[in-house]
Amino acid sequence: MKTIDLKGIAAPNVVLGVMRIADMSDEEIRTLIGTARDVGIDFFDHAAVYGNELHGCERRFAEALRLTSSQRAEITLQTKAGIVKDGPYFDYSYEHLTESVDASLAALQTDYIDILLLHRPDALVEPEEVARAFDELHQTGKVRAFGVSNHTPRQIDLLRKYVKQPLIANQLQLSITHSPIVAQGIATNMSAEEQSITIDGGGIVDYCRLHDITVQAWSPYQAGFFNGPFIGNDDYPELNAVLDRLAEKYDVTPTSIATAWITRHPANMQVVLGTTTPERVVQAAAGSQIPLTRAEWYELFRAAGHIVP
Ligand SMILES: NC(=O)c1ccc[n+]([C@@H]2O[C@H](COP(=O)([O-])OP(=O)(O)OC[C@H]3O[C@@H](n4cnc5c(N)ncnc54)[C@H](OP(=O)(O)O)[C@@H]3O)[C@@H](O)[C@H]2O)c1
Repeated sequence: MKTIDLKGIAAPNVVLGVMRIADMSDEEIRTLIGTARDVGIDFFDHAAVYGNELHGCERRFAEALRLTSSQRAEITLQTKAGIVKDGPYFDYSYEHLTESVDASLAALQTDYIDILLLHRPDALVEPEEVARAFDELHQTGKVRAFGVSNHTPRQIDLLRKYVKQPLIANQLQLSITHSPIVAQGIATNMSAEEQSITIDGGGIVDYCRLHDITVQAWSPYQAGFFNGPFIGNDDYPELNAVLDRLAEKYDVTPTSIATAWITRHPANMQVVLGTTTPERVVQAAAGSQIPLTRAEWYELFRAAGHIVP
């Protein structure tokens, strides 16, 4: 498993998101996490809103694992705050952020969160309030590092003007089929091509590279927004033919190749898996450092329907 550096935190480039564990048994959760640990995944992605109720997945994770403090210290726990489920709406106020972290700490049965991400941009953000919340969370030792999710370059700039702590990650939706943050830059300046339209605030991947912010790719196997995976999906025959051929070449599975399409990017991205199937965790981890050639990376990109002008 390749390790990357998140401004001082050593982390695998394939990590496990636990958004879908709410209805799993303790035993199933232990097997899933144990399998992840066995293949080098010691980094788990949570959010206050994951689960059937607020902090539900965080609670199920802690109940199933019952970590001792030394076991807790072996893993990196990342969670997110800023979404109000009952609405829904977004809330980056001091009160919401600090209360959300307190509830995450209780649900996760831990004294500290390794990384806290602001989950989705709040149109009413007051960056001074975010800075006050981060200072308090940092000084009290409740949160060790901070980042964002689904943020544009300018939204990050606004936060960076006030927040003292470095923002170390930006979690963004990215898969071969859902890749506007990568695809736009390839088709920039092409009139009448949808792919050339900037929908990410402009160059978010380059912005993150310039500022040492790790891009964390969420929903790495979903065709679009939670509409099912593209792997083995009859709607993507050309892409699956390439995935199958490369899987055979590298002696792995198509899931490994879909993972490698992201890990091969020189931005040192992290892939945030969401599978609840231990076998798929193993397959994904096998994609951590497959040396896809440039020609193969672009072939996958074209086979997913994107243009290379
Ligand atoms: N920051 C954000 O706004 C945001 C939004 C969404 C998600 N996330 C994070 O990203 C993580 C991943 O999201 P996701 O679950 O949508 O991502 P995903 O890994 O692309 O999708 C996993 C889902 O696809 C299914 N699947 C079917 N065939 C598969 C295959 N061949 N390989 C892999 N999965 C297959 C899995 O089923 P099985 O479980 O049956 O294997 C599971 O339901 C979440 O857990 C969460 O931590 C963040």
